[in-house]
Amino acid sequence: MVLKRTVAVTGAFSYSGQYIARAFLKRGWEVITFTRNPGRPHALSGKVKAYPLDFSRPQELQERLKGVDTFVNTYWVRYNYPGSSFEQAVENSRIVIDAAKAAGVRRFVHISVSKPDIKSKLPYFRDKQQVEDLITASGLSYSILRPTIIYADEEVLINNITWLVRHFPVFPIPGDGEYRMQPIYAEDLAELVVKGGEGKSNEILDAAGPEFYSFNELLKLLKKVTGRNTLLIHMPVPVALMLAKLVSFLLGDIMLTKDELTAFMEERIMTGLPALGKSRFSEWAQQHAKTLGTHYVNELKRHHGKGTNI
Ligand SMILES: NC(=O)c1ccc[n+]([C@@H]2O[C@H](COP(=O)([O-])OP(=O)(O)OC[C@H]3O[C@@H](n4cnc5c(N)ncnc54)[C@H](OP(=O)(O)O)[C@@H]3O)[C@@H](O)[C@H]2O)c1
Repeated sequence: MVLKRTVAVTGAFSYSGQYIARAFLKRGWEVITFTRNPGRPHALSGKVKAYPLDFSRPQELQERLKGVDTFVNTYWVRYNYPGSSFEQAVENSRIVIDAAKAAGVRRFVHISVSKPDIKSKLPYFRDKQQVEDLITASGLSYSILRPTIIYADEEVLINNITWLVRHFPVFPIPGDGEYRMQPIYAEDLAELVVKGGEGKSNEILDAAGPEFYSFNELLKLLKKVTGRNTLLIHMPVPVALMLAKLVSFLLGDIMLTKDELTAFMEERIMTGLPALGKSRFSEWAQQHAKTLGTHYVNELKRHHGKGTNI
């Protein structure tokens, strides 16, 4: 009898983690997950055994990781919020890395971000580099993937931009809108993660799709697929941010932070070619024309139980 290899994926009932879990299941792996809410109903609940992602119990984490071949770390936070800061996220990542090492995990696959930078003023990108440094210094065998922006049905940012395009007559574009992004499909990323898990040599790879868009081009594409005639107006960045804050306040969410816009404008979610992802965002958007942006997805509700979906 051949024993199944086990992979532990953080957040298998969350966004990109579910695609990663499915990709491993498809290859015949046993998948377990660590999540803040192991009892959350999900299509994968019966197939993936869930444990609490509890950083205050590192020993428990270590015990549960015994016999696990590969650990896939998707854990991170999107912005500083009471109870979940970037600083804490680095410490929590350290706990996970140490537990994997102590448990004898063979391979550590880490989801980082495109263009992490220890010198960046943006904590998301600066602290992602810190975590990469922890992994490369840990002695674990690793595959680090650096995705740009990950799109799929459950995506938040592009979905909510489309929601604005669908529901408002005017869309404010911060600055000249010429800054570019290079989205990768969640299933393509998941394939790269499986490959990374099956590999042996240490690697750090950019994970981006084959198409890139300036913000202006993205909005034109979203107008086309939704059939809307939304007026696109360029405005100074502080004014656009104020409007984003106002909409966020009205929706009870944090729609876009100043740091996220800065990252976009610094082209941090753009790596250039060649791309490892094969799927084309334009085709996906067209295929999802009926559903993309029909509902606003509230990130605060998703992660902190606040706010409402519309
Ligand atoms: N989404 C993108 O476009 C994108 C782009 C570039 C890089 N990335 C990176 O890709 C990875 C996965 O991103 P994702 O969007 O798929 O994330 P996600 O599903 O929203 O969350 C991934 C994991 O982090 C946990 N988590 C998220 N917010 C948390 C918080 N405030 N406090 C404690 N735990 C929290 C989740 O816990 P639960 O299981 O309990 O939900 C889950 O285990 C992250 O490392 C992210 O930085 C994402």
